[in-house]
Amino acid sequence: MNLNEYRVLDSGNKQKLEQVGPYRIIRPALNAFWQPSLPQKEWACADATYIRDSSGSGKWSYRNRLPEQWTVDYAGFKLLLKPTGFGHLGFFAEQYRNWDYFRNIKNVLGLREVNALNLFGYSGLGTMAMAQGGCSACHLDAAKGMVDWGREIRKLNEKTVPDNIRWIVDDVIKFTNREVRRNSKYNLIALDPPSFGRGSSGQVWKIEEDLPKLLSICNQIIDHDKPFSVVLSCHSPGFSSIVLENLLSEAFGKGEFVSTEMTVPTQSGRLLPCGISTTFIRK
Ligand SMILES: C[S@@+](CC[C@H](N)C(=O)[O-])C[C@H]1O[C@@H](n2cnc3c(N)ncnc32)[C@H](O)[C@@H]1O
Repeated sequence: MNLNEYRVLDSGNKQKLEQVGPYRIIRPALNAFWQPSLPQKEWACADATYIRDSSGSGKWSYRNRLPEQWTVDYAGFKLLLKPTGFGHLGFFAEQYRNWDYFRNIKNVLGLREVNALNLFGYSGLGTMAMAQGGCSACHLDAAKGMVDWGREIRKLNEKTVPDNIRWIVDDVIKFTNREVRRNSKYNLIALDPPSFGRGSSGQVWKIEEDLPKLLSICNQIIDHDKPFSVVLSCHSPGFSSIVLENLLSEAFGKGEFVSTEMTVPTQSGRLLPCGISTTFIRK
């Protein structure tokens, strides 16, 4: 597996220095409270810096302008990256271990057929890993632009990602409630909820209020007659591994948990924490 075209070169002063294919980029890393380990000249030659302002939005500042889009090989995918106005590039590098889990899900669950659902699916890499694992995969995101981006990346990877993906633009609560009424059943559900979001018709998503509600709806569409798994990852302050485990057991009952602090490939050896991922499994 080639993780080499993306890595964090250094972190510190609440920022991270990333090598993204041929481009060197500085972006916020709000929990990097330490000092950088590389000399200042390594940071000073970055091509672009994303600066966040106090309102929570931000802008790119360029030493060398980045292209509108470029491709990078990372963790088994060819990624199509675009610097967005909110500082994203179109992938969350710390999800790569979950992608491997999805690729192996049939073995993990001991099932010949797996129906998988990826909520808050973003640019679709988790969904594509589910498809690579032989699942019938359903991708859901409220933003049509993200779903279109996911389809574009799927096309770019058509030799390695089967076309068994349902791409859906909808609000997560609305869609899952509809799946309950249709009596749809899934063996694997993945969720990577933001702290705050908007559904496809402007519905407000607030993680503190809505995540317990969403997990309880998910419990109604999980196939309890067979082994199943739920992968919940989170970047929101206060959502520790114990919080995630308590929420999952409240919704799904007894099962086994594996929680990990997510991180990304680094050059310095000093890990950069990038949220928590908890895998729930009932066999
Ligand atoms: C990938 S998650 C965020 C990842 C990461 N956890 C973070 O905090 O930035 C964000 C995705 O959720 C989607 N989203 C936000 N609110 C939503 C909602 N109510 N229904 C469906 N998707 C939603 C957004 O469009 C976006 O692609």
